[in-house]
Amino acid sequence: MEILSHHHKTLQADKEMGEVKPYSELHRPQFHFSPKKNWMNDPNGLITYKNVHHLYFQYNPHGNQWGHMSWGHATSSDRVHWQEHHVAIPEKEHMIFSGTTALDLDKETLIAAFTSFEHALDPQGGLATKVQHQSIAKSHDDGFSYQEIAENPVLDIGSTEFRDPKLFFDPRTQKWNMLVSLSLEHKVVFYQSTDLKTWKKVSDFGPLGNTAAVWECPDLFKLPVKGSDIQKWVLTLSAGHPQEGQLGMQYFIGDFNGTHFIPDPHPYPLYLDYGKDFYAGITFANTDHKDHVTMMAWVGSHCYSSDTPTHIWRGAMSLPRDLFLTETKKGYRLQSRPPHSYLNALYSQPWLREGLHLYNGTVEPPFKGKSFVARLTIKNEGITTAGIKILKSKNCETIVGVDFGKGEIFIDRTTSSSHKFNGKFFGKDAMPIDTTWQAIQLDIFVDQSIVEVFVQNGAHTLTNLVFPDEDGNTIKLFAKGGKAHFEKVDIRTVKSIWT
Ligand code: FRU
Repeated sequence: MEILSHHHKTLQADKEMGEVKPYSELHRPQFHFSPKKNWMNDPNGLITYKNVHHLYFQYNPHGNQWGHMSWGHATSSDRVHWQEHHVAIPEKEHMIFSGTTALDLDKETLIAAFTSFEHALDPQGGLATKVQHQSIAKSHDDGFSYQEIAENPVLDIGSTEFRDPKLFFDPRTQKWNMLVSLSLEHKVVFYQSTDLKTWKKVSDFGPLGNTAAVWECPDLFKLPVKGSDIQKWVLTLSAGHPQEGQLGMQYFIGDFNGTHFIPDPHPYPLYLDYGKDFYAGITFANTDHKDHVTMMAWVGSHCYSSDTPTHIWRGAMSLPRDLFLTETKKGYRLQSRPPHSYLNALYSQPWLREGLHLYNGTVEPPFKGKSFVARLTIKNEGITTAGIKILKSKNCETIVGVDFGKGEIFIDRTTSSSHKFNGKFFGKDAMPIDTTWQAIQLDIFVDQSIVEVFVQNGAHTLTNLVFPDEDGNTIKLFAKGGKAHFEKVDIRTVKSIWT
């Protein structure tokens, strides 16, 4: 991990000189996108056009708290190295809330659909929502700037909780489609148009699944079921989390007949991620791969993100997540794959171990680091808890592991940060083990303040923020409560995308 110790030394040197180099601040992710400065939340308008991946995002150009929402912009050729540009859609009298983009039929104009958020100041100086309506903007410079059309807002039902349009053209009906969530009613409303200006309601979906939280950021896409010619439509939403009072994403599988989404019978809610910081995810439009879609999400949560201990910037994006539909013994499920293919070029030589047996103890790899990827294959041998302690300092650690006794896979961030910035943050997130799994494979992407865990090659995921101490770079494999058999351990450092 020379890169990291070098990074650490530079940090020290910069500090002594009284400044920190951009992208070297404490907690700054080194292989995940975050804006150079200021607040960021949802990804918006993800689209691939002329071999460039565009990432727009909810951005406050004026500070590192939520506010003045505009569409920030970054581009990439590989969805890993990002270059940030000027704001693509700035706030006006209204803020520019989340939405999506699509390529116009002329194949030259990019179209953005977003929620225009009209607001006023309430007597306490807070924001009072006047209305949330939908607007359209067009770009004639390949996505670097957008101009609102004169007819805006194009869709106004007078609601204060009506947002996050997903725009797409359906060749079957030759119509533009827009899905908008009626957040408090737990509904997604489907509209159609031929000119992007006049919109007609054609159906609505919901409530179904988890309705504990507001429904936000709908997405809809078609996927084949792996290894078959069955095609299904998947509706994803940011709403609901297995843990009450938290935010997360859920999905529905079914068919979209051109006007209506008809869900298949499944034991809803189905969750996209079992951590607390994978939110507002949407997929890239205009891609040509047929077997998967690629999603990025905000690594954060409105439950506590305004308090997180980062400075200059606040908020980061997940790694790109390729999503597939797979037939499991419980039915069709959305799965991903660990994003190694995106990151391979950044990996160091691995530290490898095979057949490592631990009995109530720990093993420390011969290096330290805060940006690395670990693949562990742990055999199910009884009641032991086994896994890896990461981002460890004298007082803090984050634990990722398998509790075979309880039958769960977990990220424990109870003691992951010295700053007790918000009580809702601290705790343990877990997902159930399938008892038929003989061995459990965890692909753990650790990046300063982000932990993304892919279970069984991406069948399930857990994503969480953590805020370790500056010297929290110790890594330890561990077994507790008996013996553990690590069939395989593979740990590689990941080079920074910013240097
Ligand atoms: C989701 C969300 C969206 C909204 C945006 C505002 O995180 O609440 O519903 O458009 O953030 O920033």
